[in-house]
Amino acid sequence: MKRGDEIEIDIVDLDSKGDGRGTSEGRDIIVRRAVPGDKIRGRVVKKRRGRADVEITSFVDYGMSRKEAQCIHFGLCGGCRWQDLSYEDQLLLKERMVRNALNQYGFDHIEVESTMPSHAPFFYRNKMEYSFGCDRDGNIQLGLHMRGRFNRVFDVESCHLQSPLSNKIVQHVRRLANELDLSAYDLKAHSGLLRFLVIRDAKKSNQVLVNLVVSNYPEGGVETLANRLREEVPEIDSFIITLHTGKAQVAKGEKEFVLWGDGVIEESCGLIRFDISPQSFFQTNSIQAERLYNLISEWAGEEIGKTLDLYCGTGSISLHLAHRAEHVLGIEVVEEAVEDARLNAQRNDVKNCLFLAGKAEDELLSLRDEDFDLVVVDPPRPGLHKNVLAALGQMKPARILYVSCNPQTLAENLYILKDYGYGVRRVQPVDMFPQTPHCEVVCEVERLD
Ligand SMILES: C[S@@+](CC[C@H](N)C(=O)[O-])C[C@H]1O[C@@H](n2cnc3c(N)ncnc32)[C@H](O)[C@@H]1O
Repeated sequence: MKRGDEIEIDIVDLDSKGDGRGTSEGRDIIVRRAVPGDKIRGRVVKKRRGRADVEITSFVDYGMSRKEAQCIHFGLCGGCRWQDLSYEDQLLLKERMVRNALNQYGFDHIEVESTMPSHAPFFYRNKMEYSFGCDRDGNIQLGLHMRGRFNRVFDVESCHLQSPLSNKIVQHVRRLANELDLSAYDLKAHSGLLRFLVIRDAKKSNQVLVNLVVSNYPEGGVETLANRLREEVPEIDSFIITLHTGKAQVAKGEKEFVLWGDGVIEESCGLIRFDISPQSFFQTNSIQAERLYNLISEWAGEEIGKTLDLYCGTGSISLHLAHRAEHVLGIEVVEEAVEDARLNAQRNDVKNCLFLAGKAEDELLSLRDEDFDLVVVDPPRPGLHKNVLAALGQMKPARILYVSCNPQTLAENLYILKDYGYGVRRVQPVDMFPQTPHCEVVCEVERLD
């Protein structure tokens, strides 16, 4: 088999990223947008050790029925790759991915619940990050990255995950940037002005915050763009300019300037209200986040004693558990998020939560002798740091609630926790990200002695 070859292949499973997987000539064949049961014809586009990536040219047979995707950018866009599958099938596939990950680490006996569906399969996101680019004619582009092309952007006309207002803001910013003859940042040349546009729109309060990330401020002319945008889209509650002069292609920078509004937006989950700063993590599907936190509270139980909330963000889980706990200690690396968490505790009149800014793996060094009845962990995709796992093994909390956005690292970490004397009690996938293979999982782990 070589690059460019056409092959026919049966898809037998999903890989850990949600792509279809088959085998040929002793190699794993990975096919994007294929699902188990599909038989496809495709072209080999990449070959690596023991694996080849194949792009579909036609379907011979379908393992799951397909429908026309709603979004005009489907296929070109790097997101939403399951939009041509029914929502019910997407939920089944997510459950399968969680099961696969657990089986790989010997947890075949663990029952995985059916995936909890999202309230809405479209228009659910409260945050979207758009990138600027430049087309061949020199026009500024504003949109998302083309599939597999980290340096190529396409103009988004309408994204089906983001609200109509947010789509409207994107159109206005792109037109204004072109009218004002501003430039897009060019990664290779490290020149140009406009880098990212981040829009946060809260689903409960309907507040909208726009964060424009630029390489130069106050010079450069972005203030004119902001003022014209304010006239054209008066629904924007707050506008921030983030100055980012470094080379890393990330939508954060060294300084933030609030042009109008409070520089934060308010969102609520159940009875709890949150202020969210531009750099603070907040679950992107607000309505489903409420269900996620209710599930965590239910599994935590009525009286949960001393509780540790690792990777606590703006304190969402801590504040949901506070009235059931003796006290809660939250640890989070982003200082802005910790500030938000403290203010959120105050504004919700919660007095038994304490928040520490720092890395979980460092902060736990001085907490190893503390007794916690329950530890909640909600790490980013790479999972728990080895020192966090070791600290948990030493602290021996009776229960751990593991909230994961990556079933693969969850399973890896559970395998290590098994060595520290923990067993898995129950596993519930929760769909926070319809149309994509991403899946949140809540897992209860208990000490076996
Ligand atoms: C998936 S989010 C969970 C946030 C929160 N539990 C929630 O539901 O909103 C992961 C959080 O971990 C934080 N984080 C990443 N690395 C960290 C580390 N080494 N120590 C502590 N927090 C970290 C991130 O800033 C982010 O807020």
